[in-house]
Amino acid sequence: MSEFQRHRRLRKTGSIRALVRETFLRKEDLIYPLFIVEGTGVKQEVSSMPGVYHYSLDLLSEELDEIVRLGIQSIIVFGVPEHKDETGTSAYEENGIVQKGISYIKERHPELTVIADTCLCQYTDHGHCGVIRDGDVLNDDSLALLAKTAVSQAQAGADIIAPSNMMDGFVAAIRGGLDEAGFEDTPIMSYAVKYASAFYGPFRDAAHSTPQFGDRKTYQMDPSNRLEAIREAQSDYEEGADFLMVKPVLAYLDILRELKDRFPLPLVAYNVSGEYSMIKAASQNGWIDEREVVLEMLTGMKRAGADLIITYFSKDAARWMDEDKR
Ligand code: PBG
Repeated sequence: MSEFQRHRRLRKTGSIRALVRETFLRKEDLIYPLFIVEGTGVKQEVSSMPGVYHYSLDLLSEELDEIVRLGIQSIIVFGVPEHKDETGTSAYEENGIVQKGISYIKERHPELTVIADTCLCQYTDHGHCGVIRDGDVLNDDSLALLAKTAVSQAQAGADIIAPSNMMDGFVAAIRGGLDEAGFEDTPIMSYAVKYASAFYGPFRDAAHSTPQFGDRKTYQMDPSNRLEAIREAQSDYEEGADFLMVKPVLAYLDILRELKDRFPLPLVAYNVSGEYSMIKAASQNGWIDEREVVLEMLTGMKRAGADLIITYFSKDAARWMDEDKR
């Protein structure tokens, strides 16, 4: 008998490695973010996110066709409105950019699952995720507007509502609003655990949602905290969330695992803009192998506990998966 274990036996050939592989990335796991802007003829690359574009509605069809052709089944949509004001009225207008976008997408591709990000920060002139009084973001006043936004998105045809603004009680408020409006079958994908992260930088360029004063630390979480993540997830679970999300991911893989072990809900990882831009920048410099790094990273997120991944790499990953099959 040998005195040590021969782990290498199970790594000997590609087919043995395939036989014992534990984690798989599937196209169905991927959710692709889309930015929709007002106007016509707009297809503009976000400067800090190479490969990610703003689209006006008239140019969206080509992008949608490509997404569907690649086998991606779900998208999350963000509206970038022209008009911003104190209470973010363009977030819940019947004819708001995101509402128009959602109905256009559902008309053209009813088979795509359309998730609506429900927040106010792109729509308020101060760039905060709720209503402001004396420099403070008011929790309960913001809830009513969020519920209104969610209902307008569901009316436009959104399949899933994804509230991201981190007000306390947002799941209960939105659930109540949706149920009252007859959308009791519309699921809520809660950004349950959202940290106040520097990794959102490029998104704020993309969505024009940088806060005009202060920061988001009174509503988004402190990166140092783990128990607080469990409390946040627990309350969203009790309020009736259908999915839980952790955001960002790379610095928070422990939190993903923790939530996966504790809550019997589908778990979503949001691979955020800064995590995308870092890899893009390094690969454009020839410093890393983009394909290998991205697939390793996405697999790592699944291994850590993610069932689904929102990622700007969705299209690339789907393409690479097709190549692997050939
Ligand atoms: C809206 C929202 C943000 C992101 C998703 N929804 C920005 C923020 O909270 O500042 C960030 C996504 C990303 O960085 O890719 N509140």
